[in-house]
Amino acid sequence: DDDHEEGEEYLFKIVIIGDSAVGKSNLLSRYARNEFNLHSKATIGVEFQTQSIDIDGKEVKAQIWDTAGQERFRAVTSAYYRGAVGALIVYDISRRTTFDSVGRWLDELNTHSDTTVAKMLVGNKLDLENIRDVSVEEGKSLAEAEGLFFLETSALDSTNVKKAFEMVVRDIY
Ligand code: GTP
Ligand code: MG
Repeated sequence: DDDHEEGEEYLFKIVIIGDSAVGKSNLLSRYARNEFNLHSKATIGVEFQTQSIDIDGKEVKAQIWDTAGQERFRAVTSAYYRGAVGALIVYDISRRTTFDSVGRWLDELNTHSDTTVAKMLVGNKLDLENIRDVSVEEGKSLAEAEGLFFLETSALDSTNVKKAFEMVVRDIY
């Protein structure tokens, strides 16, 4: 259609949400800069990175927003979600409470954004398989019930990180 003229650039806003310390900021730094920080500080306010992605030979730009999982450090909620066309909802496979929170994050996302937002449920810290607290099946069935894509990732060893972001971008595109 007209939005897909040759040579035109696309800028898609994607938001990352989920409880504190699930690895949102490290997923973003791994994806955008191939960096991982074992001792990263809790995010305060909002940060974002713009990433160019090649989709079938076309350049697509994703502006990826990362905010605090902790309520007291969060920015204005409505502004955070405004204009988002994709979302990663992240939990930590080694901490069940973060999986239990997914429903609340989805409620907030659905309240503040369009129903057409492409959503990916992300079970992060797959490298901590030995202390896993949420099964793959539980992640999968929640994703199916809510109509979300689903992947388990590791920001530490890079497993599925690129794929998680790019599946969302591809779906939007
Ligand atoms: P807030 O900003 O407070 O919302 O937290 P966050 O979700 O951005 O978490 P952050 O990326 O800061 O990571 C929290 C901690 O988990 C840090 O110590 C990271 O090193 C660690 N971490 C993040 N991703 C992974 C992962 O895939 N595997 C392991 N083992 N640790 C991870
Ligand atoms: Mg953070």
